[in-house]
Amino acid sequence: MNLFTLSFLILSFTFSLISADKALKPEQYPFSFSKPLGKIDKNSAQRGLQVYIEVCASCHGLKHVAYRSLEGLGYNKDQINRIAAQFQIDDLPNEEGEILKREAIYSDYFVEPYENYNAAKVANNGAYPPDLSLMVKARKDGANYIRSLLLGYTDAPVGFDVGEGYYNKYMAGNVIAMPQPLYGDDVEYKDGTNASLEQEVNDLVTFLTWTSMPDLEDRRSAGLKVIFFLFIMTIVFYLSYRKIWSELKK
Ligand code: HEC
Repeated sequence: MNLFTLSFLILSFTFSLISADKALKPEQYPFSFSKPLGKIDKNSAQRGLQVYIEVCASCHGLKHVAYRSLEGLGYNKDQINRIAAQFQIDDLPNEEGEILKREAIYSDYFVEPYENYNAAKVANNGAYPPDLSLMVKARKDGANYIRSLLLGYTDAPVGFDVGEGYYNKYMAGNVIAMPQPLYGDDVEYKDGTNASLEQEVNDLVTFLTWTSMPDLEDRRSAGLKVIFFLFIMTIVFYLSYRKIWSELKK
């Protein structure tokens, strides 16, 4: 067997494995940030933060995000301190050497839901709830994937064994260890928006897109400036090329 046949066999085997996995492709949703120059909808991201805190934070951490960076969503320092105070964090050891808890503040990072990795696994039937800070980047087509996943719980087809898990159309292998976290009306939005399931999921995904890419808008506007600069320079170079050659041709 030559190298070509071998690699062909390996490739087709891999593809057959991929197609055996019946997870659906994520549904495409027009988020505010989906268009090339789209922005993160700050109001939506603020509502998503509320959903994260009230529903997801009991299992999932957000350890790469500092409370102070919430300024990027339009909160001021007092508001951020009030948000952080909802979480309890280990204090420095006191004079007796005990570690007590204190309320988190502006300068802390989002507090982890569990003391450590093993504690997190034991609390979730052996499955580890991954950190969500960079989840939108960690999964292919992350924003649409997470949205579809949270909307993708259905009854398992007859004869399909989900074991200890739950059936989900979009999860690889169709079984996920996370029970459906959102059903609609899980939170009461502070701005009065109707907390339908779709609304909660869209807000949450907007928030998680911001935690993954807080500099998205800066990068996009910098990119636009660069393109504009290159456009102008192309014209300048073209005109000077014409000028130089018109003189040489004479
Ligand atoms: C009761 C605990 C619990 C809650 C509450 C919870 N999750 Fe999970 N989540 C898990 C566990 C456990 C896993 C690991 C699932 C697996 O590996 O099968 C997980 C996995 C995930 C994943 C990764 C899926 C993948 O592709 O691997 C995402 C995204 C996620 N959760 C988002 C959320 C969001 C958003 C919320 C809040 C609306 C939330 N979760 C609430 C326990 C929870």
